[in-house]
Amino acid sequence: MAAGLGTRMKSRRAKVLHELGGAPLIAYVVRAAQALEPRSIITILGHQAEEVERAVLAEVGELASFVIQERQRGTGDAVESARRVLEDSDSLVLVLSGDVPMIRVETLQKLIEHHNDAGAACSILSVRLENPTGYGRIIRDNNGEFRKIVEQRDASEDERLVREINSGIYCFEAKALFEALRKVEPKNDQGEYYLTDVAEIILASGGTVSVFLINDPREVSGVNTRAELAEFENLVRRSAIRRLMIESGVTFIDPSHAYISAEAQIGRDTIIHPNVTIEGKTVIGEGCVIRAGARITNSRLGDNVTVKDHSVIVDSQVEANCSVGPFAHLRMNALLEEKATVGNFVEVKKSRLKRGAKAMHLTYLGDATIGERTNIGAGTVTCNYDGVNKHETIIEDDVKIGSDTMLVAPVRVGARSKTGAGSVITRDVPPDSLVAGVPAEVKKKLK
Ligand code: UD1
Ligand code: CA
Repeated sequence: MAAGLGTRMKSRRAKVLHELGGAPLIAYVVRAAQALEPRSIITILGHQAEEVERAVLAEVGELASFVIQERQRGTGDAVESARRVLEDSDSLVLVLSGDVPMIRVETLQKLIEHHNDAGAACSILSVRLENPTGYGRIIRDNNGEFRKIVEQRDASEDERLVREINSGIYCFEAKALFEALRKVEPKNDQGEYYLTDVAEIILASGGTVSVFLINDPREVSGVNTRAELAEFENLVRRSAIRRLMIESGVTFIDPSHAYISAEAQIGRDTIIHPNVTIEGKTVIGEGCVIRAGARITNSRLGDNVTVKDHSVIVDSQVEANCSVGPFAHLRMNALLEEKATVGNFVEVKKSRLKRGAKAMHLTYLGDATIGERTNIGAGTVTCNYDGVNKHETIIEDDVKIGSDTMLVAPVRVGARSKTGAGSVITRDVPPDSLVAGVPAEVKKKLK
């Protein structure tokens, strides 16, 4: 179920699109469903249907199908919108909420086992909470047998004292579910069709309803407000960092001030300083040092790389023994080959610095290839954009680009050449030459 807006989030975005550890909430739920190897995963769409659909497809592709709930008239109505695709099947229907992201696959497997063992038409996953406020309560009779689920706002004072809550995760026999759904009426405080009423209806018609009580309440907590989302974020982050410390041998100077995606891999003896953000599927090698304030997104770093303070590396690759920053920006497939160095206030876009190349200060390298051991002087700019198209700059091996050189692309600088300070290079520079001036001309041959 992913059709609701999530009013309590006070957001224009559908709740299930809000992100946790860099991935939308719905991604966690469909990933768990996928691990069960179901026949299909049906997502009930409503608010921002297109975006939710895209988020689901990105996770589970082929397995996904979608139904639309035109108006959000409650969880019962949500499942009702899948009637056409499910009603006549002899399937087991597992109902998950898009806003319960921490659910574990093992728990779902156990719920299904429990359901089959009990020969139930409906099984409800429940848990006891210290503070059950806001959740539907599991009401049992004097013998402890299930009677019904009551929502917080419809509950009597006595019922509100019950600490066992409905997780919103259920297992149904498809036929029993859709038969019972016909009888659900919007007779409650919200005037909605509640899926929770189905349990009571199945029971009344002689079906078996079983409740599967689990121990870990965090697993089934829903995200309803931004405060809860922040708590989850904290949990996800802490467990990712713990895993990296315990299993991978990564040092965190201050684990409470590091922001690491759950998908990131980091090698042993790498040191992460405070306020570092590592996003997406980033891979970092062994023995690296990532200094304060750096952000690394969907990038690969080899071994023994140093990323100095406040550098940003996005969609790029840095090979072993390179140094980046402070205040450097690598983006759009920037590639630093072994021992290359990029210093302060240097931006590298869609460019390759070959082995041992250096750009130490105040430089823009866009659409460029920089040869081995070539040194780029302070203030160098590849003028790659003529207002319409982007053009390439190629600088060959062992070149020395003088400070403040403007390279008007497309242009090539031959191996072992030098450019004088302040040169404006508008034509290709032959190898072994010293060029200077505006526009630059060959002053002498170096060999
Ligand atoms: C629901 C349960 C409650 C349970 C709680 C657990 C009902 C009536 N109540 O309450 O017993 O304790 O979950 O988290 O089911 N949705 C739709 N269409 C709708 C309404 C909701 O798709 O018309 C989706 C939402 O997007 C969400 C999920 O269903 O993913 C749950 O909806 P929500 O409004 O959060 O239900 P709760 O009030 O939390
Ligand atoms: Ca909820």
